[in-house]
Amino acid sequence: MRGKRILLVVAGGIAAYKTLEVIRRLRDAGVSVRCILTRAGSQFVTPLSLAALTGEPVHEDLFSLTGETEMGHIRLSREADLVVVAPATADLMAKMAGGHANDLASTALLATDKPVLLCPAMNPAMWSHPATRANVVLLESRGIHRVGPNPGDMACGEEGEGRLAEPAEILAAINRLLTMAPPGSESVGGGSLAGRHALVTSGPTHEPIDPVRYIANRSSGKQGHAIAAALANLGARVTLVSGPVHEPDPPGVLVVRVTTARDMLAACEAALPADLAVCAAAVADWAVDGPALQKMKKTPGGAPPTIALRPNPDILATLSATGPHRPTLVVGFAAETERVVEHARDKRRRKGCDWILANDVSANGNQGRGGAFGASENTVHLITDDGAVEEWPTMDKDQVAERLAERLADHLARLRRDTSGRPENPGGPIFP
Ligand code: C5P
Repeated sequence: MRGKRILLVVAGGIAAYKTLEVIRRLRDAGVSVRCILTRAGSQFVTPLSLAALTGEPVHEDLFSLTGETEMGHIRLSREADLVVVAPATADLMAKMAGGHANDLASTALLATDKPVLLCPAMNPAMWSHPATRANVVLLESRGIHRVGPNPGDMACGEEGEGRLAEPAEILAAINRLLTMAPPGSESVGGGSLAGRHALVTSGPTHEPIDPVRYIANRSSGKQGHAIAAALANLGARVTLVSGPVHEPDPPGVLVVRVTTARDMLAACEAALPADLAVCAAAVADWAVDGPALQKMKKTPGGAPPTIALRPNPDILATLSATGPHRPTLVVGFAAETERVVEHARDKRRRKGCDWILANDVSANGNQGRGGAFGASENTVHLITDDGAVEEWPTMDKDQVAERLAERLADHLARLRRDTSGRPENPGGPIFP
């Protein structure tokens, strides 16, 4: 990271004291840091501490004559390799989502042309509030990166998700972003998918029952993440919309993290247009109708609660529906326990996708090695739009991903030749 420049926005939260440690470590790593301190932030750390640690003047006021003549807020926002917001408060993220520019921090964040990393920290109820959730999904769908918040004890005495990520995690995220391909670069070093945008869904979704319980499934995200990595290796610009998983982010891929099926659909729609969509996520079919706002209590001798469910949106079917947004090629997965190919064929027609990869998740599927969930190997059959079935041998999930990525690249290249320069999607992308 030596020689890199970071613009660090310090907003108002008790966790701001941890940001001082982040600055110290960045300086030790040879990174230069310039700070913007919001008015609320200055209630928690002083401009003097930031100036002493960074060795640079601290910027606080949008209308500071000295600041503007010496630097100018637009230059300040662009003369950095990365903009980091730590702590990122609910208020500052709401301003960013709404495009506000009424102080130096929000103006710089609106004016910057550099990648932005948010490190949120707030009370758990504020973090889980639907308004904050929606703002975070929107910001991530615009390509903004995030690390944390972490679960644990809060300074306010409550417990839950809302703690600022640890300095080491923030440093790791900064390091990853500073070494990643520049945003907007269409490809990572050429390749057969250079210039293409691929959308991939991965992992399970979690559907809350109350603030501490949820409905989930056993999906690990291994296959979806491997597909995102393989597509990026062939040069595609990849947006990976992932449910909660323990898999590391694939390098050079924009990862949008979501929790529920509704959020996953919103993030997918926000990522369009795309040339390809591969839906590998195991999306929950149902969500709890009206999850409890407080933890449901067990009363001695009381009857267990009844949980009412409502259907979730079908992301694959929605992306497959005809319209100006439809990706040229939409691929689904079918996890089946019996009559695998027959059920997968039906599913392909029902969902309206082009291709479907069928895998046997029965206990004796995967060639007697048990189901595919969490395993490192997978046995799949590829069913294409002409009804053909290709039986692939049992392979590592990475190899399945590579083979699929190559088949997709070949198919798109063939379509491009067949249409001899005509756009593949007759409606054309809605956003030029
Ligand atoms: O209907 P089923 O869940 O078996 O379909 C599996 C395929 O549909 C997978 O590709 C999965 O990612 C996708 N799917 C989806 N949204 C849902 C349910 C499934 O995208 N709500």
